[in-house]
Amino acid sequence: MPAHMANGSCFLVFLCLVCSCDGTCPNMCLCLSDTVSCSSAGFTKFPTVLPTFSITVDLSHNYLSYLGAGSFEKMPRLENLCLAHNQLTSLGEGVFQNASGLRFLDLSSNKLHLVEQHYFHGLWRLEELLLFNNKITQVESGMLNGLSSLKKLYLSLNQLTNFPFFTIQDHTHPFLTMLDLSSNRLNNLPWEDIKALPSLVQRGLYLHNNSLTCNCAMYSMFWHWQLRNYETLKDFTDDHRCLIYGEMRATIKFLHHTRFFHNCTLEKAVSLPVTVYLSTVLVTEEDTISLDCQTSIKSTELSYTWLTPSKGYLTPATKNSSLITIFPNGTLEMQSVKVNDSGLYVCTAVSVKLGVNATREVNVTVSLPPPESFNTGYTTLLGCAITMILILMYLYLTPCRCSCCKQPKPPSVTTYDPSSLSSVFSSSIRENKPYNDKHVAFLEPMMSPEVSEEWTQES
Ligand SMILES: *[C@@H]1O[C@H](CO)[C@@H](O)[C@H](O)[C@H]1NC(C)=O
Ligand SMILES: *[C@@H]1O[C@H](CO)[C@@H](O)[C@H](O)[C@H]1NC(C)=O
Ligand SMILES: *[C@@H]1O[C@H](CO)[C@@H](O)[C@H](O)[C@H]1NC(C)=O
Ligand SMILES: *[C@@H]1O[C@H](CO)[C@@H](O)[C@H](O)[C@H]1NC(C)=O
Ligand SMILES: *[C@@H]1O[C@H](CO)[C@@H](O)[C@H](O)[C@H]1NC(C)=O
Ligand SMILES: *[C@@H]1O[C@H](CO)[C@@H](O)[C@H](O)[C@H]1NC(C)=O
Ligand SMILES: *[C@@H]1O[C@H](CO)[C@@H](O)[C@H](O)[C@H]1NC(C)=O
Ligand SMILES: *[C@@H]1O[C@H](CO)[C@@H](O)[C@H](O)[C@H]1NC(C)=O
Repeated sequence: MPAHMANGSCFLVFLCLVCSCDGTCPNMCLCLSDTVSCSSAGFTKFPTVLPTFSITVDLSHNYLSYLGAGSFEKMPRLENLCLAHNQLTSLGEGVFQNASGLRFLDLSSNKLHLVEQHYFHGLWRLEELLLFNNKITQVESGMLNGLSSLKKLYLSLNQLTNFPFFTIQDHTHPFLTMLDLSSNRLNNLPWEDIKALPSLVQRGLYLHNNSLTCNCAMYSMFWHWQLRNYETLKDFTDDHRCLIYGEMRATIKFLHHTRFFHNCTLEKAVSLPVTVYLSTVLVTEEDTISLDCQTSIKSTELSYTWLTPSKGYLTPATKNSSLITIFPNGTLEMQSVKVNDSGLYVCTAVSVKLGVNATREVNVTVSLPPPESFNTGYTTLLGCAITMILILMYLYLTPCRCSCCKQPKPPSVTTYDPSSLSSVFSSSIRENKPYNDKHVAFLEPMMSPEVSEEWTQES
């Protein structure tokens, strides 16, 4: 294990502060206000006494191999628990009993094999669950039951061959936006279940670096995601590989080499989220406006419909005024616009062939021309005067510099801020900030370059 992982460097900071340990702070730990750090304390067993009113507990980088029932039941305020880098192989029934306030739980880099359905029972406030870099081969289908606040679930770098996608539905997990299953051994996935996932989950589903079997059902799903420009694909295009005929040696980067899927009939999207670009146009009366209908759909055979505030629906066919034109590329042109033409213009581009549509919105504001008597020389002069006044105001009236107004931070942390948490628990998360939210493999660069060699092959 690299040395930097075991340092717990962020807690050096606490050494400088006055230690407010009461009788219940274990010897090897640092206790400060409601935070307890026992990182790298050499524990082989769960400490019997921990401060009762802790909100944040860090037990990372120890040698814990088992947690029994009710380990945290005497900590009713516990919200953040870090158990990363231990030797945990399983968790006892009821381990998080009476710890239902947990919001962040890090069990990454342990030796869990199986995620049993009782593990996270009752954690209805849990928002982030980190299980990456374990030895998990199976997730029991009840595992996600009741985790109704869950936002992010990290399961990458395990040995999963399947996942109970059907347990995730709009009403069961309304906040789930990230499901990282990358770098596992997923092969034949239930694509019908995946297609039925809430669109927020689909948007945040990471499946790269698995051993997916190339087939039309798989390709169809990725094709739709690509059409919707999902970041999950854009960021890892090269890592999306599938095995032809299920053979390990014949892998293709299927987001590049689409010819293998020419014979697939791509089903129409079930529910495509509409891409909306809102823009603003400011004109004066009698001007001509030209509004384009550029959307995310890359196709030439599109039909366009404009919904206008003053004239209702307009299509190239229903042209009833010489002042209005809709060009074949969707652009709407209106001559000599009036104030009452102001409002929201919505263009819908429909591709019948792809079975998708997307909209583009433009907020048009038509104002009256400025009064004649107000001549331009005067306007310029007035403009200069206002600028001068503003400069003077800036020079003399600027409030005092930040440093003197800054209020001292209250010493006790009452609200949980996930960004500060990452610095508390794992310094390596911070170092890789640009990737922070994208993929868990980037949180901890733990793979050696030679491991990935078998993946670079292409047929
Ligand atoms: C845990 O919760 C149960 C009921 O939910 C309660 O009966 C029990 O006393 C609690 N245990 C502790 C140690 O607080
Ligand atoms: C791909 O997954 C394997 C384990 O399945 C892992 O060892 C390797 O580092 C991963 N490669 C990338 C580029 O994420
Ligand atoms: C696609 O179909 C054609 C004829 O139906 C066949 O010759 C060809 O091999 C097929 N391509 C693939 C990649 O299966
Ligand atoms: C656009 O797609 C949505 C959902 O797929 C559908 O309900 C709607 O009728 C479509 N609109 C048009 C104009 O085709
Ligand atoms: C254009 O035709 C639509 C109906 O297709 C009608 O509601 C609208 O008033 C017409 N506009 C003008 C300027 O004639
Ligand atoms: C669409 O076509 C019109 C007329 O040919 C042209 O003026 C306009 O620039 C085009 N718009 C785009 C976005 O290509
Ligand atoms: C908008 O105003 C113009 C005159 O400025 C008038 O001729 C036209 O009927 C008005 N249209 C609507 C829909 O009110
Ligand atoms: C459009 O612009 C006007 C004025 O700038 C603003 O009041 C209005 O809220 C905007 N509408 C939308 C939908 O953004």
